[in-house]
Amino acid sequence: MDKKVKVGIVGTGFVGDIHHASFRDWVPNAEVVAVSSPNNASEFAKSRGIPNAYSDYRKMLEDKSIDVVDIGIPNYLHHQVVMDAAKAGKHIIIEKPLCLTLEEADEMIDTCKKEGVLLMYAEELLFAPKYVRAKTLIEEGAIGTPFLAKQSEEHPGPHNAWFWDVNRSGGGVMMDMGCHSIEYTRWVLGRPKVKSVTAFMDTFVHKNKTEGEDHSYAVIEYEGNKIAMIENSWAKGGGVDDRCEIYGDKGHTRADLLRGSSLLTYSEEGYGYAVEKSGVTQGYTFTMFEEIWNYGFPQEMQHFVNCVLGKENCIVTGEDGREVLKIMYAAYQAAGEGRKIEFPYDPPKVNKPIDLWKRGK
Ligand SMILES: NC(=O)c1ccc[n+]([C@@H]2O[C@H](COP(=O)([O-])OP(=O)(O)OC[C@H]3O[C@@H](n4cnc5c(N)ncnc54)[C@H](O)[C@@H]3O)[C@@H](O)[C@H]2O)c1
Repeated sequence: MDKKVKVGIVGTGFVGDIHHASFRDWVPNAEVVAVSSPNNASEFAKSRGIPNAYSDYRKMLEDKSIDVVDIGIPNYLHHQVVMDAAKAGKHIIIEKPLCLTLEEADEMIDTCKKEGVLLMYAEELLFAPKYVRAKTLIEEGAIGTPFLAKQSEEHPGPHNAWFWDVNRSGGGVMMDMGCHSIEYTRWVLGRPKVKSVTAFMDTFVHKNKTEGEDHSYAVIEYEGNKIAMIENSWAKGGGVDDRCEIYGDKGHTRADLLRGSSLLTYSEEGYGYAVEKSGVTQGYTFTMFEEIWNYGFPQEMQHFVNCVLGKENCIVTGEDGREVLKIMYAAYQAAGEGRKIEFPYDPPKVNKPIDLWKRGK
């Protein structure tokens, strides 16, 4: 039996809860030994049987037994917490998006290298079983040479105020979910070099809530005659809709992550829970089962734990998070200025990606 990897979670919100459940229920060689959050760490720990709780994550970092720090907190805090965790000698799992600027990304990557710790970029779509099968189909040659990958993640809008505040999130739906679509399509296409980015975005439904865009498209042109098309929405009701379609010269495949895996239910009374961010459960609904597993969170955490144990090489790193962030900068600038952004690309210096959209409009 392997040594158990000891995990300390930073953040007890939506994703902290999912990561905790993933470790607890699916990753036998990991143990969540501590959690930190300024608001409800003790209650979170008590209700889940986690032995230690801290209101300040810096105190948690002093615990020498912790091997890996798993960070699920608002985007503008990612950089500081990663830096502190790396300097404390902890391996790091960081939720998407990596951080707000490329300078922050460079500092995080360099510091982790210097401290000899892993910086693992949490992009669960790379572990979602259906999406993994799409990738292995391509590797088997089922669709020939892939030339186009489309990915979409859409829902009616996020669950907490900080997402809507662009100073804390860095941007709207492109920043929140465009990063999923970019990394998944990059991965299935073999992570070629970017040639250009074009994009369109606007705030259609939530102008009273945010300065951020609530619907976005981008086309990413890669070397080797490959294209990714991504579409993301905070303006689409009916629960999370997550799908991809990949075209090759000898075939194509399409995967609907949630609706294609769920039960189609009609209920006059309504019931407990259908799918993430669906709101209502009356009438026709898509009833998910094993939702966390279908998203790939447990498989993702198992991979990261295996990386900490030296049994696997990390397939999604801080460098990938940096490239995704750079593509998002290009998308905001392309949409703001109404033009194609050619690569190699060095984004103008701003505080956060969405500034390039605002500045160009
Ligand atoms: N991979 C995914 O599908 C996915 C889904 C949701 C969120 N996320 C990402 O996870 C991160 C967190 O999102 P969320 O939905 O859990 O947000 P949330 O608002 O539900 O929870 C945020 C948590 O951060 C904690 N926090 C705030 N300031 C803190 C600080 N200084 N130190 C420690 N903890 C602090 C809060 O107490 C709260 O527990 C974001 O970066 C988001 O983009 C990823």
